Order: sequence, then C-alpha cells, then structure tokens
Amino acid sequence: MDKASLLKKIQQRDWFYNFTLPDGQSTQSYLPDEARAVHDTRLQMMQSCLNDFYGTAPENITAIDLACHQGYFSHHLIATGHHHVTGIDARQEHIDDASLICEAMGHQNIQLQQRDVFSLSPETDGQFDTVLMLGLLYHLENPVGALRVAKSLCKQVCLVETQVGPHISGQLDWGHYEFVKPMMGSFTVIDESHEVHGPEMSTLGICLAPSTETLIWIMRKIGFSRVELLTPPKGAYEQIRFGKRVMVAGYI
Ligand SMILES: C[S@@+](CC[C@H](N)C(=O)[O-])C[C@H]1O[C@@H](n2cnc3c(N)ncnc32)[C@H](O)[C@@H]1O
Repeated sequence: MDKASLLKKIQQRDWFYNFTLPDGQSTQSYLPDEARAVHDTRLQMMQSCLNDFYGTAPENITAIDLACHQGYFSHHLIATGHHHVTGIDARQEHIDDASLICEAMGHQNIQLQQRDVFSLSPETDGQFDTVLMLGLLYHLENPVGALRVAKSLCKQVCLVETQVGPHISGQLDWGHYEFVKPMMGSFTVIDESHEVHGPEMSTLGICLAPSTETLIWIMRKIGFSRVELLTPPKGAYEQIRFGKRVMVAGYI
C-alpha cells in the first residue's frame, strides 16, 4: 500500500491514542475528552525520567514495552533516542494496529510480538536497557510475578505505571496472637471478568491493584537497587495528580 493510502486507512477509524502521523495530522481517539490527558501526562513522566537517566543523546539503548497496545510509548521511545524497541501485547489486534502505525511512521526498529507477559524470560528474549510496564499491572492476577518478569528483563531502568488501591499497614496475628508479622502492604481485588474482551482489559478477569507503598516495597524486595516514586508534572492528569495512579522507576 502506498503511504497516502496507508494514512487514509489509519484516519478512517478512532484509536486509543492521538498519534501524530508523518503528514502532521493526528488520529482521533475513542477515549472521552476528559480522560485523554492520561496519555500526555504519562508520556511526559516517562520522557522526563529517561532523559534524566540517560541524558539527551543516549547511544545504542534498547527497550521492551510490556503491553504495548497500539505502540504509542514504543514509538516515543524510538523518537527519544532508543535504538531498538520490542513491543509485546497479549492481543493480536493491538499488534496488528501497532504494526500499521509503525509502517506509517517508517519505523524499522520496532519489533512487535503477540505475547503474554508471563511467556517472557531473559533466557529466550534477552535483556533490555529500558523496561516499560505502563497500564498493565492492575489488569493481572499475579502482579508480583509480572514485576519479577520485568526485573529479569531489565538491564538499567524499569518504569511501572499503575492504578493503585488503599494501603494497609500495622501488625497481623500470624498463627497465634503472640506470633505477629508486620503487614508490608495490600492489594485491591477488582473484577474485570465480564470485560475480558475489552481492548484495554485483563485477559483473565481477576485483577489485583497494589497500594503505592506496596508496589515500592515489592520492587525493592525483588532486587531493584533503587526505587523512586516519580513526581507528577504541573497540570498532570487528575488521577496521577491525586496519587490514584502512579509511575515508579526501579533501577538495577
Ligand atoms: C490499559 S491497556 C495499557 C496499554 C499501554 N501500555 C498504555 O499504558 O497505554 C492494558 C494492555 O494490557 C494488555 N494485556 C493485558 N493482559 C496482558 C498480559 N497478560 N500480557 C500482555 N499484555 C496484556 C492489553 O491487551 C492492553 O493492551
């Protein structure tokens, strides 16, 4: 298909993201107006963290975008200096869409695969300087396992962005009232079992969202040497401004 027909085909429908295409036009998003800023704020936070970490002209760095959806963040990783990006998503429809966008953008260095996050390992897939896990954790029934996968794939920095739930701390009787253990955190269980066909949803239906403190504690516990809660920028999307969604950076 020639470039003009490709761009026309892309513009015939709505997307999850507003992609700016090579002809300067933007795709329409099916997200309601009031929710669209979630992407802008996350992009700003990702770019600011990676610029601070790598500097403005990073060389030969690679990334994996876990749950890449239509490839919005993968595309921006390339645009901000990553040499190669692997994007994976459990849904083939997203991989097809991401491939179409890549073709329109002329990106040769994004490799897209339909994969479940739990099928990845450093032995079979290698390791990546940057690991992105945005908008995925709270759609999973095994978020700790997913964080372990992310850590195992990571050579330098891992960004985890997630919806968070309330925190619980204190002491818990553990077998007997005299055997107590400190509670390190909590997960909120959310039911997406009637929505597993939704494009942005869980594939299995039972979802566990950590509290912010829990996420940070787990990331430290599984071996990140430094874990930082990123500060939302001025004018951030309301969920991120009020700490209902957070982005956390884990460093190897
Ligand atoms: C809310 S969207 C987030 C997409 C993108 N990362 C973002 O932040 O804009 C959740 C994505 O996770 C994908 N997903 C859900 N379960 C998955 C799994 N077990 N492995 C890989 N991708 C999964 C969905 O297909 C969907 O694209």
